[in-house]
Amino acid sequence: MNQANVVQSTAVRVDTFLDDVLDGLSRPHKSLPSKYLYDERGSHLFDQICELDEYYVTRTELAIMQQNASSIAHQIDTDVMLVEYGSGSSLKTRVLLDSLSRPAAYVPVDISEEHLLNTAEQLRLAYPDLKVLPVVADFTQPFTLPDCEPPASHVAFYFPGSTIGNFTPPQAGKLLQQMAAMLGQQGGLLIGIDLQKDLDVLHAAYDDREGVTAAFSLNLLSRINRELGGNFDCDRFQHRAVYNTLHHRIEISIVSLEDQVVSIGDHAIEFAAGEGILTEYSHKYTVDGFAKFARQYGFQLHKSWTDPQNYFAVLHLVIE
Ligand code: AVJ
Repeated sequence: MNQANVVQSTAVRVDTFLDDVLDGLSRPHKSLPSKYLYDERGSHLFDQICELDEYYVTRTELAIMQQNASSIAHQIDTDVMLVEYGSGSSLKTRVLLDSLSRPAAYVPVDISEEHLLNTAEQLRLAYPDLKVLPVVADFTQPFTLPDCEPPASHVAFYFPGSTIGNFTPPQAGKLLQQMAAMLGQQGGLLIGIDLQKDLDVLHAAYDDREGVTAAFSLNLLSRINRELGGNFDCDRFQHRAVYNTLHHRIEISIVSLEDQVVSIGDHAIEFAAGEGILTEYSHKYTVDGFAKFARQYGFQLHKSWTDPQNYFAVLHLVIE
């Protein structure tokens, strides 16, 4: 199977972007890292995906958080340093913050400084008593937690959105291992995972009728044109989302509709008709399967919450 390096956050410098694009497109199985989907237009399109009828992920996780807010907050407890993997711009974060009785500090971690500082400012306005300590970092690499006064009694990581689903199992394992190492004995992890379900539901969620997901995918080609001097003709490519039942994941690719040669700067890239560029994985788990997986890295499932349809789950894992 193609274990392409689909997720890997690093600062998006133009030369890194170009290197990654050329590297991914020169492989026998072409791929592009999914992090490059999220430029300004891509982030906007992703927000639109979250509003789609077919894309159950965002609203289901939010509903789980709202319906179980006090029980979830109770696990996390008082005097916690709540560390969110991502900027914390979502409603889910506020649901959690609203229910925590006395958090010691809230630490959003994000690679994009501008986005991070914006959300930090908004949260400071909404929660004047909360210590907001943003950290600019690539959370796929170990980073240092900030000090806070008075010190927190323990740390809880919050990793919502089923973002873990983008990672291949080896990548996800590495991340869990790093989290366990940073948590110490007292900590916990609150994580959102998308569950295995009916294939029709999954296909619709990743290939919606209005074509918003297709536009989100194909924007990656437009971004290469804009930023790297490419000449992709988006009409000659198509979005494709297929569920791999063996690996329990949606595999998203951009497929060439014909034999063609595309240039990026001075580089020529050949495509055969039907050839795909893998852009994203979205792994689907079971609660038991994820719990078993996380055990390998020192985590024990403490409690889980799901929706009536069992589409999504929020898990609280603690260090054994
Ligand atoms: C942001 C990784 C959770 O996998 O559901 C949605 C990304 N891509 N539609 C997902 C995505 C196309 C999304 N995650």
